[in-house]
This record gives sequence, C-alpha cells and structure tokens, in this order.
Amino acid sequence: MLASMKEIFEAKTKGAVAAFNVFSYEDASMVVRAAEDVNLPVFLMANRPAIKYMDVDMFFAVMSVLAKKASVPVAVHLDHSNSYEAVKNAIDAGFTSVMFDGSSLPVEENLDITRRIVDYAKPRGVSVEAEIGHVSYQDSDSDTQGVYTTPAEAKMFAEGSGVDALAVSIGTVHHMVTQEAHINFELLEEIKNTVSTPLVIHGSSGVSDEDLKRLSDCGARKINIGTALRLAFGNTLRREMEARPDVFDRLELFKAPMQAVYEKAKEKLLLL
Ligand code: G3H
Ligand code: ZN
Repeated sequence: MLASMKEIFEAKTKGAVAAFNVFSYEDASMVVRAAEDVNLPVFLMANRPAIKYMDVDMFFAVMSVLAKKASVPVAVHLDHSNSYEAVKNAIDAGFTSVMFDGSSLPVEENLDITRRIVDYAKPRGVSVEAEIGHVSYQDSDSDTQGVYTTPAEAKMFAEGSGVDALAVSIGTVHHMVTQEAHINFELLEEIKNTVSTPLVIHGSSGVSDEDLKRLSDCGARKINIGTALRLAFGNTLRREMEARPDVFDRLELFKAPMQAVYEKAKEKLLLL
C-alpha cells in the first residue's frame, strides 16, 4: 500500500525503516519484493539524478503502482531536494513524503524554506524531512565538508520547523563504496535525548553491518541506502555482460542484476 512516512513509522514502531534510492522499475520492483518477503515497510526514494532521468510525474507513476500493489506500506519519497519549487512539484505529483535539503544553506534560510514546505505539505498529508548539520559526499569535488549536527541546533530546528523527520550528521559520508564510516554514537545518543522528532541517517552504504544494527537499536528511525544497491546492480551487470557476450536482450541481461538488488535490499532490511 502507498503510505506516508507517518504511516510507515506507525507500521514499524521499533528500530529503523530502510529507505532505498531507486532509479527505475528494475531496482524499485526488487526493493518492494524484498520488503514484502520480510514483511517490513520501506521507502522508495527519488534523488535529484533520478528525477532528472525520469521526471517527477513519471517516477511517481511507476513507484506508486508498485507501492499500491505491495502487501507492505511503501512510501514514495523525494530525497535531497534543494528547492521549494521542486518539492512542491513532487507533492503535487503525489509523493507521500519529501525531503528538503537546506544543509548547505545558512541555518536561518534552511529553517525558513523548510517551514514553508511544511506549511504546504501538512494539509496535503505529506510528510517532511529536513537536514541539520551536513552529511558530505565522498566523491564530491565541490564545497561540501561534513558538519556534525549539534543537539541544541537540532532541537531548535525540529521545533521551529515542525518536520516529521530530521536527518542528522554523526559521521556518515554519502557514496562510500566500502563500509568504513566512523559513527559517533555518543552524539546520536545526545541528539536523541534532546529531540523528539524521528532521526534519519544518510549515507548508510558506508556503515558496517554491525553499526547499521546498532544505529537501528540506538534510535535512528529511517536509514538511507543508495550506493550499496547501485554497486549490486552495476557490478553484476558488468559481470553478466562479460560472461555472456552473445546476449543482447536487456530483459535477459537485467535478470542477474535485479536479483543482486533483491538480495542486497533484503540483507539490509533484515539488519534493521
Ligand atoms: O539520501 C540518500 C542516502 O543518504 C544514500 O547514501 O548512497 O551513501 O548509501 P549512500
Ligand atoms: Zn542522503
């Protein structure tokens, strides 16, 4: 069933819910199948490259059919959007959950735009996530340095914005291809004791299995995973094409990569 973030949290009251970046039918259908097989709710997330690839209405059309057919709650979530207009377009297209990422902006500006988004989203039953502090990108050549979230700022931001979930920076880094992130669990604990809003961890492909479990046990409520599935699909597709040079039918070539996505998604879902 198609669900909002609120409904997803009601469906799994303990530990974290897995949220996966997906890019099309091939990976999204495998994530939903994995979630159904372990009977857990899940988020299908569209990041900026996904929206650029498919358009927001096309993405929602495909994902919402998968969600409506699913036996578990599935939220269709806009991930890391950096403009009010783009978030509004996603809400108008039917997304049940959105993230405005103003973590690179001055905090007052982040708060101001996030508040306006909450005002637009709430009456429409759409959940809102924002980010305070900044989770950086491993492969970024741009401006971004990771900035730890401070408990006081997180409290001020959560209370001032009225968001349904707050992404915090506690040591993860986006797009890591190895599971070597150093998590500051003390900081997570402090934030959790200061803020009542559900907390979100980004960049979770770089987190070890042990720490992923620990994050889920220590109060994280949504755990975002993208790169791990992209690696599973891409690396398997490459092997498949090298091993079967005569095959040109993509439906055939996609079988093994889709299975790899299914297995990786299931593995992460079970860890949480
Ligand atoms: O918002 C998306 C996630 O933070 C994904 O991060 O690709 O490093 O797993 P990741
Ligand atoms: Zn992220």
